[in-house]
Parts: sequence; structure tokens; C-alpha cells
Amino acid sequence: KRSVVLGCGSYLPQKVLTNAELAARVDTSDEWIVQRTGIHQRHIAADGEFTSHLAINAARAALEHAGIDAQAIDLIVLATSTPDNTFPATAVAVQHGLGINHGAAFDLQAVCSGFVFALATADNFLRCGAYKRALVIGAETFSRILDWSDRGTCVLFGDGAGAVVLEAQDLPQGQPGLTSDRGILTTHLRSDGRHKAKLFVDGGPSSTQTVGHLRMEGREVFKHAVGMITDVIVDAFKATGVTADDIDWFVPHQANKRIIDASAHKLHIAPQKVVLTVDLHGNTSAASIPLALSVAVKDGRVKKGDLVLFEAMGGGFTWGSALVRW
Ligand code: ACO
Repeated sequence: KRSVVLGCGSYLPQKVLTNAELAARVDTSDEWIVQRTGIHQRHIAADGEFTSHLAINAARAALEHAGIDAQAIDLIVLATSTPDNTFPATAVAVQHGLGINHGAAFDLQAVCSGFVFALATADNFLRCGAYKRALVIGAETFSRILDWSDRGTCVLFGDGAGAVVLEAQDLPQGQPGLTSDRGILTTHLRSDGRHKAKLFVDGGPSSTQTVGHLRMEGREVFKHAVGMITDVIVDAFKATGVTADDIDWFVPHQANKRIIDASAHKLHIAPQKVVLTVDLHGNTSAASIPLALSVAVKDGRVKKGDLVLFEAMGGGFTWGSALVRW
């Protein structure tokens, strides 16, 4: 079996926060932010607008794009580090919001790598035959865990959600699954907890009983990012025999334009194949890949049959790649 992508969709909160508006709050400037990150603006969830609300809107858009009814979904994997509550999983709120009460729904936490981890998890459940159709969602309200007085972090992140619909489809009899067949070709996940103090939230139910704020050693993250990203993409190339030239679209986690450019350069992926939305969305953590993907699908860049490469790296550290024939 193969997990084939039937459709994708996304949702961004209405409110846009520009660099100029941020510069009125903390000691920063549009020039500094753009030069270091490529970010011009980010979206911020309204009061009372939770991660589950963003996720439900993205899921509805993905279902509509896929042309299937919510009742056809029997698995929901929601990647988030900003759940509505400590428990239950935000995924069950999404399940309920979509009017589904069969199958399974759970959250997955791998910070900015969450979407790739969730995609790999759903892919394995579908390929083994446990479920038939999955919603894989990345949804975040990072604005709620930012220290708005810390200019080193508050300028980087935004809120949003994106989703894809996957369906388990049988491969032609006797065919091992070629890279030309549609679907998820390979996924590769990694983590290394030695780096856990370089990017974390300083609170939690078991330690402080508070929600806490995001803390980051930006330079340290930057230092490791490109190497980790390129390593795990090389794993995907080795597993499939695909090369950088075969890639039609590179849809990376949107943390920082400099990290994306350096990774594409190191891998010899042409700049015109890189989908970039960090300028308009900021870093939306687990939501950034499906948000970028939805933009590129909607504007006609990503077409059926294209070879699409995803990668992400984030807190933990965690990192991963996925290669998909769209
Ligand atoms: N505006 C103006 N000045 C700032 C700002 C700001 N928003 N933030 C920091 N500075 C200052 C610092 O205080 C420092 O000043 P000093 O020299 O007087 O002490 C100076 O700028 C340099 O600070 P650095 O942190 O060394 O700046 P750097 O060039 O490393 O850029 C950045 C910081 C953009 C965070 C960079 O390290 C980076 O991109 N790191 C990757 C982090 C990332 O993308 N994290 C996302 C989560 S992980 C992921 O998704 C992959």
C-alpha cells in the first residue's frame, strides 16, 4: 500500500502583525528582522481563537480540496506544541468539531518537525492497513507562548494551521512501489535530546504547573540546522535513488530564509524550486509546511505527479524529511 495525498488546505488568523508594529513594542527594526530572517509579517490568533479552531478550519479546507466528506476520515494526527489544554488532545476537539466519532485522533509533539513526524506516523498506520484515510494537521498558536519582551524570539513566530488528507491505496499487483507512483515515497525522522536546552518552553504541567515561554539559543539552533536538514534529506535520496535534480518542489519548514537558502544551496536544489512563505507567515512551527504547501498548490506550482520534498528541524532537536509524489 501507498499513502496518497488527496488534498491540502490551510488557515491563517485574520490579524496581521507587521515588523513595523513589532518595532513599536520592542527594540527592533524591520531592517534587522528582514535581513536576519526574511520575515516581513506574521498572523496572530484573535482572543478566544484556539489551536483547535485554526486546525478545524484548515482540515475543512483540506477535505474540500480532496473532495471527500469528513465521515470518510478514520485517523487524525495533529502536530502541535500549543494544544488548547494539557489534555485531552487537541485532535479530539478537531475530531468532534468535524462531526467524526469513529476511528482515532491524537496529538503528536515534535515542535517545528511536528508535521513531518505526523505525516510519517499516519503513513505507517495507512500502509499497514490499520486505517484507510487520515487527516494530518499542523496547527499552532505560538503567539501564546512567546515572551513579547524578548526581541530575540518574539519577532520570529506566527500562528496558523495546515492540513493534508491521505488515503491508503493498493499498489498494482506485484509492483514494489516505484518512485513514479503517487504517494509518500519515504520518510526519515531523527531526534537528539542532548540539544533539548537550546530551544524549549520554560514551564509545563509536571515541572512548574505554568504554561511558560519559549526560550532559544538562536545561534546554536542556526549552527546545527543546515547540517541536520541536509543529512536527513540525503537519507531520503539514498532510500529512493532520487536526486536533487529530480525534485520539482522543495517545501521546507519555514523558520528562517537564511537556513532555507543555505540548505537548498548545499543540496544543489535550484532556488526557483524552493517554496518560501516565511516572509508572510513567520515561523508557524508544525503548521509551516502544510501552510507553504497549500500556497504552492493553490497558485498552481505544485501539480499532480510532481516530486515534492519536505524537511523540518526544531526543538529537541528533532528533524526529518519526507519525499512525496504529489
Ligand atoms: N532586533 C534587533 N536586534 C536583535 C534582535 C531583534 N529582533 N534580536 C537580537 N538582536 C541583537 C542581539 O541582542 C545581539 O545584540 P548584541 O550584539 O548587542 O548582543 C545581536 O542582535 C546579535 O544577536 P544574535 O542572536 O547573535 O543574532 P543572530 O545573527 O544569530 O540572529 C537569529 C538571531 C535570527 C535568531 C538567528 O540566530 C537565527 O535565525 N537562528 C535560528 C533560529 C530559528 O530559526 N529558530 C526557529 C525555531 S527552530 C526552527 O524552526 C529551525
